[in-house]
Amino acid sequence: MARIAPSILSADFGRLAEEVQAVTEAGADLIHVDVMDGHFVPPITIGPLVVDAIRRATHLPLDVHLMIETPAHQVAEFVRAGVNGVTVHVEATGDTAAVLAAIRDAGARPGLALNPPTPIERVRPFLAAVDLLLVMSVNPGWGGQPFVEGSMEKIAAARRLREETGTGFDIEVDGGIKPHNAAAARAAGADVLVAGSAVFGADDYRAAIRSLRSG
Ligand code: DX5
Ligand code: ZN
Repeated sequence: MARIAPSILSADFGRLAEEVQAVTEAGADLIHVDVMDGHFVPPITIGPLVVDAIRRATHLPLDVHLMIETPAHQVAEFVRAGVNGVTVHVEATGDTAAVLAAIRDAGARPGLALNPPTPIERVRPFLAAVDLLLVMSVNPGWGGQPFVEGSMEKIAAARRLREETGTGFDIEVDGGIKPHNAAAARAAGADVLVAGSAVFGADDYRAAIRSLRSG
């Protein structure tokens, strides 16, 4: 059964702690936190101060997705804020292997993300060093975008790569996940489904999470 990670990008930021508590009570498995720097992607979202506030609102693991250009400068501060996993992009600048090692040294689970146009082979050199591979199924930057075609095949390719390399990372899919495509993403091999608008745009968070997990 897949784990569900509501993305707070689609939450009401004026009531952020309440929103995080609501999805916690509604059965979320982890909280997905989208950090954007205005360089790697056009929008700017939140930094460690807000992550610290989220940390105090839930006992669930925090899954931090860094859409930032120079993650090496930032990872330690996010780990200090009490997050469980930190995911960086293979397209970001800097030494990817060194950043992944720094995340693990700091005491968090390293994750690696790739954008829809990036070939899966780009991540191969890093697979032994990651606990999570995040397959982006939209181009990063905004919630509520349509699922990019071909992403199911990419999830399946990630699963084959995991078998082929004898590694054990979780596969997470992020972007455009809704009740109508969640089952296909799970069948393709996704262990964790990120969902922003499908959860926070629903009237009933519990029903939304349930239908993503097993509907
Ligand atoms: C997009 C973010 C996603 C986003 C997903 O750049 O990484 O986590 O919140 O939102 P939905 O589920 O609405 O596509
Ligand atoms: Zn994300």
